Amino acid sequence: MARIVGGVTTSHIPAIGNAMTNHLESTPYWKRFFDGYEPVKEWLADVDPDVAIVVYNDHGLNFFLNQVPTFALGCADRYENADEGWGLATLRSFDGDAQLSWHLAESLIGQDFDMTTCQEMLVDHGFIVPMALMWRHLTEWPVKAVPLAVNTVQHPLTSARRCLALGKALRKAIESYPEDLKVVIFGTGGMSHQLQGERAGLINVDYDLQCMESVINDPDWLASQSISEIIENAGTEGVEVIMWLVMRGALHANVDVVHKHYHVPISNTGAGVLVLENSHD
Ligand code: DHB
Ligand code: FE
Repeated sequence: MARIVGGVTTSHIPAIGNAMTNHLESTPYWKRFFDGYEPVKEWLADVDPDVAIVVYNDHGLNFFLNQVPTFALGCADRYENADEGWGLATLRSFDGDAQLSWHLAESLIGQDFDMTTCQEMLVDHGFIVPMALMWRHLTEWPVKAVPLAVNTVQHPLTSARRCLALGKALRKAIESYPEDLKVVIFGTGGMSHQLQGERAGLINVDYDLQCMESVINDPDWLASQSISEIIENAGTEGVEVIMWLVMRGALHANVDVVHKHYHVPISNTGAGVLVLENSHD
């Protein structure tokens, strides 16, 4: 059977992509941020997953504002990357696992999550920045990828609670797949940031740290907040942090923290990273 080896959460700020392309990792602005990913890379090398389910939001590349599904699942054997306007280098394409994706779709829809199924899907910085943070040092992506897009852009948005519930359903979907696959789940986006309007530039360190603590030990704290409350605290784009709850929902009630790191600011954003494993107790 497929099993979940753990979950990773990370911000996906496009400036990180440009920093990687330009090899700026050791410069004063970036060093502490990138150092925070070394333990994540080591953990991934250790658990050696076969598949990464990447929960991310599209930023107008694959889904423009004229058609935005609330939840969309990639059901392809190949995903191409493109730049939706940040000037990011295009990365090599990603292998998918359409068979697994269709199983996930069937299971999730059977559990009343009405996923949009995408047999073609272009992936943007929300997906590629996390993948590159983990694996750019390798010549090939070491996992098959399954993109799971959550609308955090076009209101009305789904709720934080629904994201946590989606994670719980995702766990059932994964654990009912007959093939022996090791699956890692990435919850991406966040943390606090607002790119536009009167509050542009908002970063809320206290709230970010509370969210990290909540994702580890008390996901209901974040899950019980409304979208308006989250935006009030984390900014209009900071609402992306609801996607961390999809990852968290797929893990057990108790988790062990393998790694936790927070750095602020990167570009306009509070940048957080977590590696969680299911507790053995
Ligand atoms: C930034 C952060 C994001 O999440 C994003 O999608 C685009 C830009 C930023 O901080 O610059
Ligand atoms: Fe974003």
